[in-house]
Amino acid sequence: MKTPDIGLKSNTKTTMVGLCNARLADAIDLSLDIKQAHWNLKGPTFIAVHELLDMLRAHLDTNADTVAERVAQLDGVAMGTVQAVGEASALSPYPTDIHKVADHVGALVERFAALSKSVREAIDTRPGGRRRRHRRHLHRLLARPRQGPLVPQKPPRMRP
Ligand SMILES: [Fe+2]
Repeated sequence: MKTPDIGLKSNTKTTMVGLCNARLADAIDLSLDIKQAHWNLKGPTFIAVHELLDMLRAHLDTNADTVAERVAQLDGVAMGTVQAVGEASALSPYPTDIHKVADHVGALVERFAALSKSVREAIDTRPGGRRRRHRRHLHRLLARPRQGPLVPQKPPRMRP
């Protein structure tokens, strides 16, 4: 089925599909990194960070879903298989030999910063103008929750 014409030239669509798929790969990779941290954290602040990471991942997955659906709207194919993500992700491989909460938080912060930098660079190389609006939009898609605060409103339950 042909998607409706949204008024973009085909080369612009191709460029945008490539940029979106590249950042989609990073977002899926980072989502798996968050789960890796969630499962392997150890330390006195374990439970609070453990729960926070699940919330963070849910927001990231929701926003990655929006990016993937944009690809389809641009007549592209969203590349979300493990193989495609493994090949396309620009993030460093997540360390599997760390356990301290601070080490996991540090590793995730580095990868969030890398994803954020890639988004900014993609916008700066994007054909056409309106960079500021698009940068805000992509940041909203990838980094910010759609609704509600990221930090839990009630204290996390303690581990028995
Ligand atoms: Fe869990």
